[in-house]
Amino acid sequence: MEPGDDFVAARRVLQAARSLVALTGAGISAESGIPTFRDAQTGLWSQFDAMALASEPGFRARPERAWDWYAERRAGVQRTEPNAAHRALAAFEQRHPGRLRIVTQNVDDLHQRAGSRDVLRLHGDILRVRWLDPCPLQPACDTDAAAAGRPPRCARCGNLLRPDVVWFGEVLPAAALAAAEAAVARCDALLVVGTSGSVWPAAGLAGLARRAGAQVLIVNRAASEIDSEATQILRGAAAALLPALLAPI
Ligand code: APR
Repeated sequence: MEPGDDFVAARRVLQAARSLVALTGAGISAESGIPTFRDAQTGLWSQFDAMALASEPGFRARPERAWDWYAERRAGVQRTEPNAAHRALAAFEQRHPGRLRIVTQNVDDLHQRAGSRDVLRLHGDILRVRWLDPCPLQPACDTDAAAAGRPPRCARCGNLLRPDVVWFGEVLPAAALAAAEAAVARCDALLVVGTSGSVWPAAGLAGLARRAGAQVLIVNRAASEIDSEATQILRGAAAALLPALLAPI
């Protein structure tokens, strides 16, 4: 088949899908200027120690260092804008209410700022915070009343605030994961965009879709660890491919 035929076939699958799920990773936000995690040279994990910063033991060992790193990433997210890939998914959802559900591993808010409403967050939200420990006092710690600091702490019991993201070694929010698995198990097509497929259980969603009989389309600039689950792979940048793939026929 000519390369163009692959593209036309992919468009047909997406336009025919009555139930479409988009599983997104850091690659969809890369063209907005938010660093990915595992891209060589530019990925965060090539510059920082993931376990020291994105884990509970790492945070407890050096809370200030970890807090500052998340504050820097949060400021980076707030300086960026959704790109054409985020906007293409939001426009598709607006044209076809109820047909598209986004399941994202990303902790930025670019899908939401692009206008997407049906977004399941598997790994949390870098723009939100929560208490590190259960509060021993009643009424419990009040995040609004946290004393200044890096990280801010509860003036009454000393509890620390932490980013509301899923750290390595932590379980995913059960309700979001269950909803994601249910959506993937009944979709006609899963559009996987910009993920290395290296972190479970999110990575397992592609195989779940395939075993349930869905078409699995992978959009990525490079090979991923879940390419074997694809019914079709579209090699390229998300901000270029998604608008063309999802454009109205
Ligand atoms: N268009 C499409 N794909 C891209 C683009 C782009 N412009 N830029 C990068 N990519 C692809 C890379 O080829 C890679 O496969 O995006 C993927 C990014 O992979 P990772 O950096 O591993 O990000 P992700 O898959 O989202 O990581 C999953 O790991 O560190 C944890 O919690 C973190 O949610 C994250 C999870």
